[in-house]
Amino acid sequence: MTELLSIILAAGEGTRMRSARPKVLHEIGGLPLVAHVLEAARAAGSTRIAVVIGPNHEAVQADLSARMPALSFASQTQRLGTGHAVREARAAFADAMGNVIVLLGDAPLIAAQTIAEVAARLDAGADIAVVGFEAADPTGYGRMITDGGQLLAIREHKDASEAERRLALCNSGIIGFRAEVLRSVIDRIDNKNAKGEFYLTDAIEIANGDGRRVEFTRADEREVQGVNDRAQLAKAEAQFQALRRDDFMASGVTLKDPGTVYFSYDTEIGRDVVIEPNVVFGPGVRIDEGAVIHAFSHLEGAHVGPGASVGPFARLRPGADLADGAKVGNFVEVKNARVGKGAKLPHLSYVGDAEVGARANLGAGTITCNYDGVNKSRTVIGDGAFIGSNASLVAPVSIGANAYVGSGSVITRDVPADALAVARARQENKDGYAPRLKARALAIKQAKAAKPASSGK
Ligand code: UD1
Ligand code: CA
Repeated sequence: MTELLSIILAAGEGTRMRSARPKVLHEIGGLPLVAHVLEAARAAGSTRIAVVIGPNHEAVQADLSARMPALSFASQTQRLGTGHAVREARAAFADAMGNVIVLLGDAPLIAAQTIAEVAARLDAGADIAVVGFEAADPTGYGRMITDGGQLLAIREHKDASEAERRLALCNSGIIGFRAEVLRSVIDRIDNKNAKGEFYLTDAIEIANGDGRRVEFTRADEREVQGVNDRAQLAKAEAQFQALRRDDFMASGVTLKDPGTVYFSYDTEIGRDVVIEPNVVFGPGVRIDEGAVIHAFSHLEGAHVGPGASVGPFARLRPGADLADGAKVGNFVEVKNARVGKGAKLPHLSYVGDAEVGARANLGAGTITCNYDGVNKSRTVIGDGAFIGSNASLVAPVSIGANAYVGSGSVITRDVPADALAVARARQENKDGYAPRLKARALAIKQAKAAKPASSGK
């Protein structure tokens, strides 16, 4: 396969996000915009990836190199245009042999397939290949001037004539070059134009002058849309979610009301899983075959085993790990805890830093008291144990297999297997006492009524 270098432009900032964060670190599906582009570049078979970052963008570099250690970075300290940004990455393409594809760090929905298609055009003999799209509103985009299959020029909106502005086919910003062609045109780009910028798009006309073969492909506008402000960020998120929902349904997941379920970039869901309305997946969730996620549940960093059931109104936090057939019911929060096969936490519980054995049953209101204000401690509940309602298990503590904990107990010491532990005040009944209690209360009320509120001061 031909060597493929992807250069991601992520230096230009703009001011419309009104944010303390670099634009490309804003997220859709829980992943930074530029990381989506990185993922697509990797999936398209890039052999090397370089990212052009702006001044004070250490955060971008730190985020991306944590995801992919082999990345290289170039910095563009002055925003002099897309052509200039590519020039700043010269170290990356100076000795490149195969193809170089320029991608935009703020266009997160680009599909790996589209990048691969550009690479295929180059492999098939094109010197340059550009991804175009039919814009519903082309205002602001570079217009593509074509002649049959040849792309003659890209005219930036500000520089375009009235007739050129009527062209609907626009430049997505994704442009592939044979490496030697890029090297032959990049330094001939000037900044004599309406914006006074070095336009990468001028490379098209220069290459045509050299008799090069410049081709174009077409993508859906939704795939190449960029993010410049919060409204476009929300639009990109919506588009990302729509794609994920379609993918999951196509792979055998039932979504009762797809538009109300939100996924992360890395959510994994097995066949025949049923997801009810209003469920949110944060990063790091895996759901195995046949599990059911009931309405209004929130999951993050969690694993749900085959046939398990979650919610309604459940919260699984990082480290929650449910084995086959486990049940986590309404108003239950599970964090950093393994819930064994067929174990049940049906209602109103907090289970954190714990291990719940197979078939154990936790009554309503069972709480693991895992935090003393300084340290976190573990609770271990054995297989088949039964915890009565409203028990507090003060960690570190362990409940043996098949043990029984009486309702309302505050358990501070380990309970052996098969034992019954009751840790609450013993009940006392006082015969005939209730009417006397009521009479006394009534007397107090009457005394108050007789003496009006003069004694206020
Ligand atoms: C660019 C294209 C235009 C295309 C549009 C698609 C040029 C000259 N124009 O226009 O044909 O229709 O994208 O959205 O290429 N960047 C840098 N450094 C710079 C300037 C830009 O890194 O000095 C990066 C930005 O972060 C951004 C991308 O390049 O990711 C595009 O830059 P932008 O200024 O938004 O270009 P447009 O005017 O939108
Ligand atoms: Ca733009």
